[in-house]
Amino acid sequence: MAGLTLRHIEKTFGRTTILQDVSLEATDGEFVVLLGPSGCGKSTLLRIIAGLEPQTRGSVQIGDRCVDSLPPHDRDIAMVFQHYALYPHLTVRDNLAFGLTMRKEPKAVIAERIAETAALLAIHDLLDRKPRELSGGQRQRVAMGRAIVRKPTLFLFDEPLSNLDARLRAAMRVELQKLHHCLATTTVYVTHDQVEAMTLGQTIVVMNQGCIQQIGRPDQIYHKPANPFVAGFIGHPPMNLFEGSYRLRGRELEFRAGTLTLSVQTPAQDECDAGSGHATLGLRPENVALDPPGTNHLAFDGTIDVIENLGGDHIVYLVVHGQRVVARTSPNSTRRVGDAVTAYWPTDALHVFINQKRVPVSP
Ligand SMILES: Nc1ncnc2c1ncn2[C@@H]1O[C@H](COP(=O)(O)OP(=O)(O)OP(=O)(O)O)[C@@H](O)[C@H]1O
Ligand SMILES: [Mg+2]
Repeated sequence: MAGLTLRHIEKTFGRTTILQDVSLEATDGEFVVLLGPSGCGKSTLLRIIAGLEPQTRGSVQIGDRCVDSLPPHDRDIAMVFQHYALYPHLTVRDNLAFGLTMRKEPKAVIAERIAETAALLAIHDLLDRKPRELSGGQRQRVAMGRAIVRKPTLFLFDEPLSNLDARLRAAMRVELQKLHHCLATTTVYVTHDQVEAMTLGQTIVVMNQGCIQQIGRPDQIYHKPANPFVAGFIGHPPMNLFEGSYRLRGRELEFRAGTLTLSVQTPAQDECDAGSGHATLGLRPENVALDPPGTNHLAFDGTIDVIENLGGDHIVYLVVHGQRVVARTSPNSTRRVGDAVTAYWPTDALHVFINQKRVPVSP
């Protein structure tokens, strides 16, 4: 097994730059998720790692081997795509065997690997069926099996679950996690689904417009987003983000968006050296309380605009100083649309971004 190192990868198509200075490292056995919106360059990066697409600049290293000059079949990787393209005329068994047969592996080895993989994925009953006799989830499992039988040093997954319905996707997420626990093969997994990223990734790489925005563990990405893009991309409902201005006096940072004003303390004078300018303030819906919390907080008068009842939770849309504020609260049947309420914002849950960068704040 081996890790993966990308150094300063750049990709241009004609005059368009698709990837810019992408560097990252996956340690041996790590599950890394590339997360970002459609068109941000995730698949292109995966194809560069696989050797299906040459990079314009930079290098790809798998383990201690620089693979830049190696064709895909010499890179010892296995890739699973969204469209898993099983051979329709071959049985599941022959689909699984295909890559190994091409490599002229002995028949006994092939049979053993297929038996192991079928046991791991619980597909032994399906081995003699053709792909058209399988459900979407079963086909997806076989596609995964085709990658696993090869025992590669690196798995590359490109949105492998996006063709499945929501329930099956949730079930496969759990299976993938268990599978990775068993196999411990270094994995790069592409998705635009933040739930997949948060639940599967040991490390998440958030990308936008061909650039890495942040690399971190799921809890770091969630609790300490590096910039407003990451803050708004992760979390459901998304983080409340307010565009406004700041003024710094000593350690006191005053934020203003229309008539909404508040102040917090920051030790980060260096990062707001101009003393004033544009700032973004963020607060997650689950941190907006409609009953006074125990912690230090700010309080604002607001009105309830819409209530969405999700059963276990209520999503309450408020108007506070002319701004839309979304709160995720436990169900409360006494609240009605049009009610005047107080919205409490715990100061330790506020996120402040200046010049697109996070600055630390304290109550
Ligand atoms: N062969 C190509 N020639 C020109 N542009 C390309 C080519 N392949 C991809 N692109 C462009 O590169 C950008 C990144 O594409 P890519 O497929 O990597 O995005 P993605 O993040 O995987 O998106 P999605 O989530 O929709 O799959 C897109 O703007 C796409 O149009
Ligand atoms: Mg893609």
